[in-house]
Amino acid sequence: MLRTVQITKDGSATIAIPDMQVTYHSHHGAVQESRHVFINAGLMHQRHRLEIEVFEMGLGTGLNALLTFEMALAQPFTVRYTSIEKFPLRANEWSEIDYSEYIKIPDTKACLNALHESTWHEWHRWHAKFSLYKIMGSLLEVQLPANTYHVIYFDAFAPTAQPELWSIAVFATCFNALASGGCLVTYCSKGVVRRAMESVGFLVEKLPGPPGKREMVRAIKP
Ligand SMILES: C[S@@+](CC[C@H](N)C(=O)[O-])C[C@H]1O[C@@H](n2cnc3c(N)ncnc32)[C@H](O)[C@@H]1O
Repeated sequence: MLRTVQITKDGSATIAIPDMQVTYHSHHGAVQESRHVFINAGLMHQRHRLEIEVFEMGLGTGLNALLTFEMALAQPFTVRYTSIEKFPLRANEWSEIDYSEYIKIPDTKACLNALHESTWHEWHRWHAKFSLYKIMGSLLEVQLPANTYHVIYFDAFAPTAQPELWSIAVFATCFNALASGGCLVTYCSKGVVRRAMESVGFLVEKLPGPPGKREMVRAIKP
């Protein structure tokens, strides 16, 4: 499948899959969207914890992971970051991407390269504040530990492109994997998606979306 690097409106890069008519981030701004939806509405919602367990659906470019590392360096909490990916980017794809202008961590490009080159299915301690675990596999098949994660970054392609990932069964898996008080955040606020979340027990709130999008969702496990 052809994947190409595209520049979004804030200047940061994303990946496009023309055949599926999807991009990995909003064309209004990749970094802007990720910070708004996943870091500010998700990770920071859990900032009262000393150690935050993050689970990401869709590692993709690694942008959310790098932004999370950046925030962990600036905040009192440490992060253990687990991410699942079914279709990892190839080296010729991720090597074209550079978020150095946007993310303030020591040697952003080297971190992005290390993220993609690191082995799957084992923990990598990048720093005292941040460890990474990558799962190569499908969210539809993975067995996640119960009551473990404090934040789930639900960053699947849109329901129109991948309806099977926005199902009641998948949200039940996420609900079960979250600790009490944990939250799932996503850029999609469609009514059918919110109702699927509510049907498995989530308390769903609509929040203002990033530029170009009216609303986003944060779903909390009571
Ligand atoms: C919207 S993109 C995620 C972007 C990513 N979070 C980033 O910051 O670049 C969706 C990602 O989910 C992955 N994906 C698609 N189907 C999947 C599945 N069934 N299980 C796990 N990952 C999947 C895609 O390959 C893609 O990387």
